[in-house]
Parts: sequence; C-alpha cells; structure tokens
Amino acid sequence: MQSATPTQLKVNVWRGADEGEFQRFDVPRMESQTVLDVVIHIQRRLDATLSYRFACRVGMCGSCAMTVNGRARWTCRTHVTKVLHHADDVLEIAPLNHLPVVKDLAVDMTDFFDKWRDAKGYFAGRRTRAEPVARVDPATAARKAADAGIECIGCGVCYASCDVVAWNPDYLGPAALNRAWTLVNDVRDTQQQARIAAVSNDAGCQSCHTLGSCTERCPKSIAPTASIAGLKRLNGKAPQGAPE
Ligand code: SF4
Ligand code: SF4
Ligand code: FES
Repeated sequence: MQSATPTQLKVNVWRGADEGEFQRFDVPRMESQTVLDVVIHIQRRLDATLSYRFACRVGMCGSCAMTVNGRARWTCRTHVTKVLHHADDVLEIAPLNHLPVVKDLAVDMTDFFDKWRDAKGYFAGRRTRAEPVARVDPATAARKAADAGIECIGCGVCYASCDVVAWNPDYLGPAALNRAWTLVNDVRDTQQQARIAAVSNDAGCQSCHTLGSCTERCPKSIAPTASIAGLKRLNGKAPQGAPE
C-alpha cells in the first residue's frame, strides 16, 4: 500500500547573516505550491521577522532567487514537487551564494550590479531625442547574437552558480559578461573599445572555465557561456566596423 503524502512540509530556513544557522518550520502542503509560497507562509503565519525579497511572483523581476536544496533557483517559479525527490524530504532554503547576506534569505546585490557597470553593461548611443529611432535589421548576425542574451533580468542565479566567482571575487561573472556581449553586438552603441578593454582583463572573459553551470541553471534559458566565448573570440579587439 502506498504511503499518503504528508500534509506538512519540513522546511529548514537560513536565519542570520553570513554567520547563522538553519531553523526548522513545518508548513502545510498545498497543491501547486512554490518555494516562494512556502517562504511567504512562514513569514506571514509563523515568524514575521523572516527577511527575504520578491516582487512579481511570475518570473519577471528576478528578485526572489535563493538557494533551494543546494542549488540557486527562482523561488516563485520553482514548485516544491520539483525539488523534493521523496514525499518526506526536507526543503532547505538559504540565501544565494557569493553575495553578502543582509539578513536571512536577502542578499546584498551591490557587487553583482557594480560588475555590470564595470563591464560597461549599459547602452551609450549617439543619437539625440530629436533624431529618428535607429532601425536594426532583425535578420543580421549581430542582432541575433544580441537577442540571444537580451532577456536577462539580473536574478543572480548564474552568478551564485559560478565557481570562478567563488575563487576570484573580482571576476565579473556570467551575467555582466553576457550583458557586455549583447551590447558588443548592438550596432548603435558607441563605447565598444572601452567595453572590450573592460571585459578582457584578468577579471574578465578569459577567466571563465566554460563548464557551463551558469547556462545550465539560468531560468531564462540564456547561455552566458556562449556569450563569454564570443567575447573571448574577439581577443581583446572591438568588432570590425563598431562605432566608437
Ligand atoms: S561557464 Fe564561465 S561564467 Fe559560467 S559558471 Fe562556468 S566559469 Fe562561471
Ligand atoms: S543570465 Fe539568467 S541566471 Fe544570469 S542573471 Fe540573467 S536571467 Fe538570471
Ligand atoms: S518574484 Fe519576480 S521573478 Fe520571482
């Protein structure tokens, strides 16, 4: 006879900052329950002092990423059934790796976004508002390369999954390098020489060991590994014909 699914979920949640410990909660099982549903239940019903971050609940804002049973994931789009292999498994929820913990499940993303800036992961065009909007042919190779990485929403899952970030805290990381690659392929952008220089130093694309944890785990199915390989192929030079 099959055992019935337990009506309570055993959940270990990280409490504290970089130093801390896991705290056990029992949470009612529900149909189609996500990991974020579990965290919200704990904070609203069991311990109002639990800190965490989320906004959209539909996989758009990227703010709800946490480490779930040892792996970085979007919690709002991760069903409990996906991470529990057996009905009586324990769910372990911790903050993202490689970023300082503010409190409990909330990390400080400052380093992550500073690296986007350091990789010149922002657009700098030359047209003014008075000029017509630039037309970029969607069929060109550059536009297709940019499109492949453009849907990144900065959730940090790839960054928390990257071993090189752990070994070298200066490494720009998969998200910043992916962003740089989309802009390298943006024919309207004007700072290509400076961007290529920024991503080609010791903390840049050459440090990636291409094992692909970032690509395997990105919930948006982006392939930072391929973007970084594209930067490596440029070998420190801006793409031909790039405006400066
Ligand atoms: S492929 Fe490169 S960027 Fe991606 S996880 Fe591995 S080392 Fe990090
Ligand atoms: S590349 Fe993917 S995993 Fe990395 S920050 Fe962007 S959306 Fe998140
Ligand atoms: S809450 Fe916005 S992506 Fe999860």
